[in-house]
Parts: sequence; structure tokens; C-alpha cells
Amino acid sequence: MPSVYIKTYGCQMNERDSEAVAAQLVAKGYSLAASEHVADVVLLNTCSVRDNAEQTALNKMTNVISDARKQRPNQIFGFLGCMAQSRGKELIDRLPDVDLVLGTQKFHRAAEYLNDLLGGKRNKVVDTEAEQGSEGTIKEHLLNGAAKDKAVTAFVSIMQGCNQYCTFCIVPYTRGEERSRTIPDIVAECRQLVAQGVKEITLLGQIVTSYGRRRPVTPSLSPSDGERVAKPSEGIVPLKDGKSAFVQLIEAVHEIEGLERIRFTSPHPKGYGDDLVAAYARLPKLVESAHLPVQSGSDRVLKLMHRGYTRARYLEIIRKLRAARPGIGITSDIIVGFPGETEADFEETLSLCREVEFDNAYLFKYSQRKDTPAASMPDQLPEPLIEERHARLLELINTIGKRRYEAFIGRQTQILVEGPSRRNEARMAGRTRCNKIVVFGGSARHRGELLDVKITRVGSFTLYGDPAIVNL
Ligand code: SAH
Ligand code: F3S
Repeated sequence: MPSVYIKTYGCQMNERDSEAVAAQLVAKGYSLAASEHVADVVLLNTCSVRDNAEQTALNKMTNVISDARKQRPNQIFGFLGCMAQSRGKELIDRLPDVDLVLGTQKFHRAAEYLNDLLGGKRNKVVDTEAEQGSEGTIKEHLLNGAAKDKAVTAFVSIMQGCNQYCTFCIVPYTRGEERSRTIPDIVAECRQLVAQGVKEITLLGQIVTSYGRRRPVTPSLSPSDGERVAKPSEGIVPLKDGKSAFVQLIEAVHEIEGLERIRFTSPHPKGYGDDLVAAYARLPKLVESAHLPVQSGSDRVLKLMHRGYTRARYLEIIRKLRAARPGIGITSDIIVGFPGETEADFEETLSLCREVEFDNAYLFKYSQRKDTPAASMPDQLPEPLIEERHARLLELINTIGKRRYEAFIGRQTQILVEGPSRRNEARMAGRTRCNKIVVFGGSARHRGELLDVKITRVGSFTLYGDPAIVNL
């Protein structure tokens, strides 16, 4: 029985794709190896969002290969995902020991190709073609065995691709056009997860607020896959009672008995219509948490980025969300050093952060991506300036975050216990509804339970609960 080790870079979509590939391989008789040193197959599921992420995966593969040459001459190597999609065969030209390059619409073919490679039927495989219906193929989960800790929470992929074409972003090129699964298909997957003990589901996509808005180009799935053939009407969900397709999907998932919490990521601010804000007020399982990537606080930069909203509109959404759900946790993504960003633009980003008071924000130093419009914009900023602005913004985000976390001290809050703390296996960790990690001194039997804990102190973007006051 061949063994496989999968290492994942990048976003939660990539984590989910890797899980689906692992589940597919386990179903085909593969075992999951604990490290690249003992695996027959090493797969790197890659990210292309920034150059850094690509270099890290390339370096990793170079190291794994040079190590294997000495000790494991028959090991198979593959790149999956976004960098595989954007670079294709070039990866094999660069690293000739790589055997497999599998694009973002081809994860479901991993087992077939690996069997061919291991069996000597093929020497190299590069498959980065688009495939109709591939959005419906990320549905297998690993709830037992190696990924047992994840069984309390699960990610469900609801759509693939993005049509927003933000000028800095490579995702529309690596992930392709927006393609949505159907509501019944997604609900069936969620039901099954809940039947297996999952309490919290995160609906995933690159731009989930655009769910169900676009018809697939050709609405059929190749019947040779033995998969269901989609009907022409599938993949597009018309407005119903003024509710967008995405809100209809949340409502349908909300009906599932036994499911306690619903999250989603990533939405786009322009998709935060009043119907979605109202859903927060109406649907108790939809937790009070929102990741709302703002990218910049300057209208001039937002326009150059092709984001489709203004600073004022963004602030209005935040106000409405906080009115609908006081205590909502709000996080964001921000890019520092977009081409042409002036000191005044950057200060608008600082002031927006002060105004919103994010619970946390992920800061990205602008990275030029091949073939994106921003890559050829004038006035690309020098690295030291980007570094300097990044450090200033990071300090502000940390200061605000610390204040917002400290406000929890002394408060009682509900957590869903996910498993042992990553940093200290002897302690347990859970998440508040507003998406903050709480570490406390519980035991394994609390896993999967909703508990009230009292917060006693804070660490870096972590809350600590006093085990003595846990309500049992
Ligand atoms: N909607 C997707 C976006 C993927 S990219 C999601 O949130 O999963 C994630 C974040 O990476 C973006 O929100 C943006 O802040 C950052 N990013 C994207 N392209 C970038 C680039 N060229 N340079 C720096 N950061 C970038
Ligand atoms: Fe990228 Fe913008 Fe879509 S950040 S994933 S093009 S919403």
C-alpha cells in the first residue's frame, strides 16, 4: 500500500482541497505518511498569491528531492494547486525530478495519475486543463484517522473561482471562473458531516458572496467520471424574496438539525447587501464573526485595485453589521505598498483601521504577480518603503487587537471545544462565536462540546479561560 505525504501552503481553500485529495487517496488504498521522509509520494499543494509563497514551495521541493536522491530513489513528487496551475510544465523543466503537476480543476484525478506513475504506466503527468463540473468534486472528507481532531468543525467548498479581477490578484487566473455547486448538493454534504458529529461548518470559496450568481459556461460534467451530470439550470440561483443565492444557501444549511454554528470565508464587501446583514440578525447559528477584506483605506487605491466599493461604503457595512450583531468579531486583509500608494493613501488605511477597530487583520506586502494589471502599473514602490509601512500598520493592528482581546477579561463566553491546544497539548482549545481562540484546562472528553468559560487573561491573539470556572 503506497503512502502519501501532503503539505499545504496558503489559504483555507487549499487546506480543504488537500483534505479532499487525502480522502480520495485513502479511499483508493493509500495510507497517510507522517512526514516526507517516510512517504512513497510527496505532494505539495501550493499558493501563488504572493511570490514568497511560491518560493517557499519551490525551496521545499528542491530540498525534499535532494534528500530523497540519497535515500529514496523511487519517491514520487507532485505539485498541486495554484502554482501548478499557473506554471504548469515549467515546474518540471525547472525541477526534472517532479513527476506530477496537477492544476486547480484536477484534484479529483490525483489517485488515477499517481497509480499510473507508481505502476510505471506513465513517466510524467501535467494536467492543468479546465474541467466543467470540477467545482462539484471537492466533497470527500477525512473525519477519522489522521485528521480526527478536525471532526468537530469542517470546511465545505461551495464554489470555485473568482470573477472580480482585483488588479493585484492572481486567483482569477489560477482558480478560473466562478462556478457554484447547487444548494441541494452542498446541503447533502453538510448533513452528512453533521451526522458524523460535526458541529460547526465553514462555507468556503474565493468570493462566497457571489455564490450562485453565474451559470457555468457549459453546464455538464464529463460523464466518464461516473459523476452526476448537472442540469442546465444548475449553478445559478435566482433571487428569492429579495434574498441572494448566498443567503438562501445559508438558510438551507441553517435548517440542519444538530448543526450549531455556521461560518463562511471569504466574502467580498460588495456582497454585503442588506439581505446578508439581516441574515446575521435572524439566523442564530450564523456566528457573530465576519472576515471582510478591505485591502486599503484610500478611495483612490481601492479604485486602482478594482475593488468595487469605497471607504464610506465599507464603513457603512461595518456599522450595519455591528447594529445587527453587537459584539461581532471583524477581521480583514490589507495590502501595503500597492503601486502608487502615497503616504497620504497609507495614512487613510491607518485611519480606517483606527475607525473600524479590527479584532485582527492579515497584512500583506504587495507582491507583483505575473500578468495581473497591477504588475505593470507605474510607480511600483521600493521594498524598504513597503517594509516600513508594513511595520507601522502591524504595530497599530497589534495595539488595537490587544485592546479588543483584553476587553474579554472577566467575561463569560461560549466556546466550541475543538481539541488539544496546538501550543500546549496538555490544554484544550476552542473558539468563541466571534472566532477567537480560547485555551483552557479541560480534558479530551470536552471535545465537540459547547461550553461557557470565563476569560481570565490574554496572550497574543489568544484568550485563556480559567478551568476552575468552566461550567460542567
Ligand atoms: N478572496 C480570497 C482572496 C485570496 S488572496 C480569499 O480571501 O481567500 C488573500 C489575500 O491575499 C487577499 O485578500 C489580499 O489581501 C492578499 N493578496 C492577494 N494578492 C496579493 C498580492 N499580489 N500581493 C499581496 N497580497 C495579495
Ligand atoms: Fe482575488 Fe479580488 Fe477575487 S482578492 S480572489 S480577485 S475578490
